[in-house]
Amino acid sequence: MKTNASWGGRFSEGPKEAVADYTESVSYDKNLAPQDIRGSQAHARMLARQGILTEEEGRILVEGLDKVAEEIRSGRFVWRSELEDVHMNIEARLTEIVGDVGKRLHTGRSRNDQVGLSFRLYVSDSLAQWQVLVRALVQRIASIAADHADHILPGCTHLQPAQPVSLAHHLLAYAWMLRRDYDRLTDTLHRVRTSPLGAAALAGTTYPLDPVSVAEDVGFEGIYPNSMDAVSDRDFVLEALFDGSLIMTHLSRLCEELILWANPNFGYIRLSDGYSTGSSIMPQKKNPDVAELMRGRTGRVDGALMGLLTVVKGLPLAYNRDLQEDKEGFMDANHTVSTSLHVMEGMLSEITFNTDRMEEACRRGFLNATEMADYLVGKGIPFREAHHITGHAVALAERKGCTLEELALDELRGLDSRFEDDVYPVLDPRAAVRRRETPGGTGPKSVAAQLEKLRAWCAAGAE
Ligand code: ARG
Repeated sequence: MKTNASWGGRFSEGPKEAVADYTESVSYDKNLAPQDIRGSQAHARMLARQGILTEEEGRILVEGLDKVAEEIRSGRFVWRSELEDVHMNIEARLTEIVGDVGKRLHTGRSRNDQVGLSFRLYVSDSLAQWQVLVRALVQRIASIAADHADHILPGCTHLQPAQPVSLAHHLLAYAWMLRRDYDRLTDTLHRVRTSPLGAAALAGTTYPLDPVSVAEDVGFEGIYPNSMDAVSDRDFVLEALFDGSLIMTHLSRLCEELILWANPNFGYIRLSDGYSTGSSIMPQKKNPDVAELMRGRTGRVDGALMGLLTVVKGLPLAYNRDLQEDKEGFMDANHTVSTSLHVMEGMLSEITFNTDRMEEACRRGFLNATEMADYLVGKGIPFREAHHITGHAVALAERKGCTLEELALDELRGLDSRFEDDVYPVLDPRAAVRRRETPGGTGPKSVAAQLEKLRAWCAAGAE
C-alpha cells in the first residue's frame, strides 16, 4: 500500500487496507465535487488577487478546475479511494492536468476549512432547493383549498368530532406550517452562508489572505470571527437537519390524515391509482403506501439529526475527524426531504375529495352542540349553565337516536323554557362555520384572507 501523496511525507508505510477503507470518504463526499470546485476556484482567484500566486497561475488553476468539473460531469473522472476524499481526488487530477502549479492551490488553506466551505455550499444549495419545493407545495395546497372553500367537514380534537370547519381551512393549516418552514430555512441560510476559509487548519495562516472576498465570490454573507470555531462548527448542518425534520414532521402529520381519510370508514378522499398500491393477496385493497412511507421516512431525518448531535457533543476544539460523519446523514436527509416534498405535491394534486361524505359526517356526532350552547348564551344564560342544558339535550337526542335539530321544540322547552323556534337555523353546520369570523377562524372571510396572503406570498416567490 502506497503512502498518501498529500500527507505521506513522514510515513514509511501506507495505511492498512482495512484502515484505508475505514477512513475514506470519497465514496460519498464525491457528491460535493461541484461545490468543492467552486470553493477552490474562489480561493485561487483570491490568491492571485493578493499576489500570493501570479495572475497566470491563478488563471491556470481556475481553468484546470473547470476541466476537472467537466470530467466529473461527463462521468470520465476516475475516483480513487486511496486518495481518501473528494478534495484530494480533485487536487490530484488538477495537478495531472495543469502540472506542478496544481500543487500551489492549497496555499494558505487546510482541508479543515476547505471541507467546511464545500459542505456549507452543498447545504446551502440543498436548502435553496427545499425552499423551491416548499413554496410549490404551499401553492398546491392553496389552490386545492380555493376549490373547497364551500365544503365542510368535522374538525376534530382528540380525533373526536368537535366542530364543523371548512375543508379549505383544514388544508390551509398545513400551508401555514410549511410557510413557517420556509422562513426557518431562510433564517438558517444566513448562518450556512458564512465562510470558514482563512481559518486554515485551526489558527489562521501567515499568508496575507482576503477571506471576505472569497466569501463574496461564492455568494456568502460573511466569514467566521474565530478560526477555531470556523473549522469545527457544525451548527449549520444541525440546524438544516432540524429544519428538515420539522418539514418531515409536518408532511408526516398530513400523511396521517390522508391515511385516515382514505379509510372507507371515513371515506373523505380517494387517492389516485398512481399514488396507491395494491395487496398481493387481498384484491379489494388500495393502500396509501406513499403516505405511509413518507410518515416512516420522517424517522430517517430525525435519526440524522440525533446522530450528528451525538457526534458533536463531546468534541474538543478544533477539527476532529469525527466531523467527517456530518455528511452521509445530511445527504440522506436531503434526498428524503426533497423527494417527499415533491411527491406530496403530486399526491395532493390527484386526490379526489368526497365532499358529500364530509358534509354528512358533520350532521352526525353532535358537532353543533357548541352552537346550541352559544344560542342559549344569546338568550342571556351564563355559558356554564348553557353548556349544562345542552348536555341534557345531547343525552336526550342520544337516547332517541336522533340529532339535536331533530328534537322537537317542546322537547327542548322541556329542558329549558327559553328555547324558541329560532334555535333551528343556528344548528345548521354551515351556519356554524359561517359565524366563525375571528381572525384565523374557519369563517369564509377569514379563509379568504388566509388564501389571499398565501397567494401573494407564492406570487412574490415566482418573480
Ligand atoms: N474528509 C474530511 C472531512 O470530511 C476532510 C478533512 C480532513 N482533515 C483532516 N485533517 N484529516 O472532514
